[in-house]
Amino acid sequence: MRHQNPFKPTAGKMPPVLVGREKVTDDFIEGLENGAGAPGRLMRITGPRGSGKTVLLSELASIARDHGWLVVNVSAAGDLLESIRKRLLKAHTFELDSLKLSVPFGSVEAGRAETNAADFETVFDGAARKMTARGKGLLVTIDEIQDASHDDVREIATAVQFLIRDDQNISLVFASIPTGVLDLLNGKAMTFLRRAKPEELEAIPLAEVRDSLRRTIEDSGFFADGAALDKAAEATAGYAYLIQLVGYYVWRAAWLRCRELDGPIAVTDADATRGIGEALEEFKDAVLETAISGLPRMSVEFALAMSEMGEVVATADIAEKLGRSTGYLSPYRRRLIGRQVIEQTAPGYVTFSIPFMREFLVERRGEILARYGA
Ligand SMILES: Nc1ncnc2c1ncn2[C@@H]1O[C@H](COP(=O)(O)OP(=O)(O)O)[C@@H](O)[C@H]1O
Ligand SMILES: [Mg+2]
Repeated sequence: MRHQNPFKPTAGKMPPVLVGREKVTDDFIEGLENGAGAPGRLMRITGPRGSGKTVLLSELASIARDHGWLVVNVSAAGDLLESIRKRLLKAHTFELDSLKLSVPFGSVEAGRAETNAADFETVFDGAARKMTARGKGLLVTIDEIQDASHDDVREIATAVQFLIRDDQNISLVFASIPTGVLDLLNGKAMTFLRRAKPEELEAIPLAEVRDSLRRTIEDSGFFADGAALDKAAEATAGYAYLIQLVGYYVWRAAWLRCRELDGPIAVTDADATRGIGEALEEFKDAVLETAISGLPRMSVEFALAMSEMGEVVATADIAEKLGRSTGYLSPYRRRLIGRQVIEQTAPGYVTFSIPFMREFLVERRGEILARYGA
């Protein structure tokens, strides 16, 4: 029998089981159903790289579609207003008459040309009003909003606020790296972004992770013993990307061992050990190494010092350890925050943003310093 690995360790790919997101999806559904101005309709999803933001936006989009809403998903990397405008014009439900641009003496072609030329505000406002008139609504999701231009965000915010005030069915959900980073990149983050309902993607409880691993493995036609599941769940640290990566390699270890055999394939404790080892190696190279590569030497020394000091470390203690002033270290610390290697837990205190970063730095300390001739 042929078996396919069910795990999806790829950015943006919908996982076989979406674990630990019930609160967010419930908040969102409540928002959709509670009418104009409900808090769940304006939402900010934050978390480090690999915590599952993009996938969650897709999930919310599909919930909104199930409610009959028109959905536009965009990423902030390009021209935000133009991509929203274009998508709305293309959307099936959004036809020529929807802008109420009356062209009494013009031809249909002239009307279409006029529609196509309408600016962002007209198209956006028209789409939301038309959907509301149908008893539905408009959802816009924006991924990686930290990359958007302030002017674009401000313009969207104004349009959304206007629609909310007019009791129109509009929802805006955006994802960004953690708020501390957002403040740092954008000065004080724009008020509008701050007012949205915050949903911080924190570590997923291991019991839920374990259950999802078991279900995914069983749905693929394998089964797993309890010890293997415990071990695998623990190795994920509740981090979304690691759930897929660990699951993938543990499943693969069993498959490599048993693919020539007949009968059901069991994932054993030994498969878990082997798979976890391979998953963590890949995680180090693909995620942890990438996160620190190309940083200035002082940033790297900052992170290395931190790794030897504890989970949450005072910037002042790092400065003392390195024999530098906190002022001198400040730009190097900021680089680390911008790269999502570390984050601020309270003013003057930092911690690592990505699981296993600390262990990784301790383990590869010599090798990393050698790159800087140290
Ligand atoms: N809730 C979840 N449960 C299980 N796996 C998830 C979950 N969310 C995301 N993943 C997996 O984690 C990885 C990263 O997800 P992604 O949405 O790209 O993260 P981000 O956008 O925060 O960087 C993908 O492999 C995805 O399948
Ligand atoms: Mg993403």
